[in-house]
Amino acid sequence: MYQLCYASCATSDGEKLLEDLRNTLKEARDFNVRHQITGVLYFADGYFFQCLEGDKADLDVLCEMIKKDNRHKGFTLFEYKPIEKQHFVDWSMKYVKRNSVIQQYMRDHGFELFRPKLLQLNQVDELVLLLADIKD
Ligand SMILES: Cc1cc2nc3c(=O)[nH]c(=O)nc-3n(C[C@H](O)[C@H](O)[C@H](O)COP(=O)(O)O)c2cc1C
Repeated sequence: MYQLCYASCATSDGEKLLEDLRNTLKEARDFNVRHQITGVLYFADGYFFQCLEGDKADLDVLCEMIKKDNRHKGFTLFEYKPIEKQHFVDWSMKYVKRNSVIQQYMRDHGFELFRPKLLQLNQVDELVLLLADIKD
C-alpha cells in the first residue's frame, strides 16, 4: 500500500472552476473505485492538495493521468511512500472544500491563504490527518 501527496494550482475560476471540480470528482470516483484507490481532494484559495492511497502500480498510472490534466498546473509531488494503513477507507475520493480547521492550521504556520506547496513534509502528514478527521 502506497501514499502519494501533491499540490497544484487550478487553471480556472468562478463557474468554470465549479464545473471542472464536479467533472473531476465524477471521473476520480469512477476510476478510483475500479482500482481500489482511496483519498482526499482539498481545494481552497486556488490550490489543490490531493492524497491518494492504493497499490503502487495503480497510483503510477493515475499520477501520470493527473499530471497531464490541464484543469490544473504546477503539479508538485510531496511524498510517494509505503504506508501501513489507508486513511480514507470509506472514500474513493473525499472532497473537502475551504475548511476552518485547515485555514487555522495554515495560519498557525504563518500562511493566511492555503499555500500547500510551502508546507514541510511533516506538515503534509499532519494535513492528511486533519483532512481524514474532517466530517463531511
Ligand atoms: C486536481 C485533480 C485531481 C484528480 N484526481 C483524480 C483521481 O483521484 N482519480 C481519477 O481517476 N482522476 C482524477 N483526476 C482526473 C484525471 O486527471 C483524468 O482527467 C481523468 O481520470 C480522465 O482521464 P482520461 O480522459 O485520460 O480518461 C483529477 C484531476 C484533477 C485536476
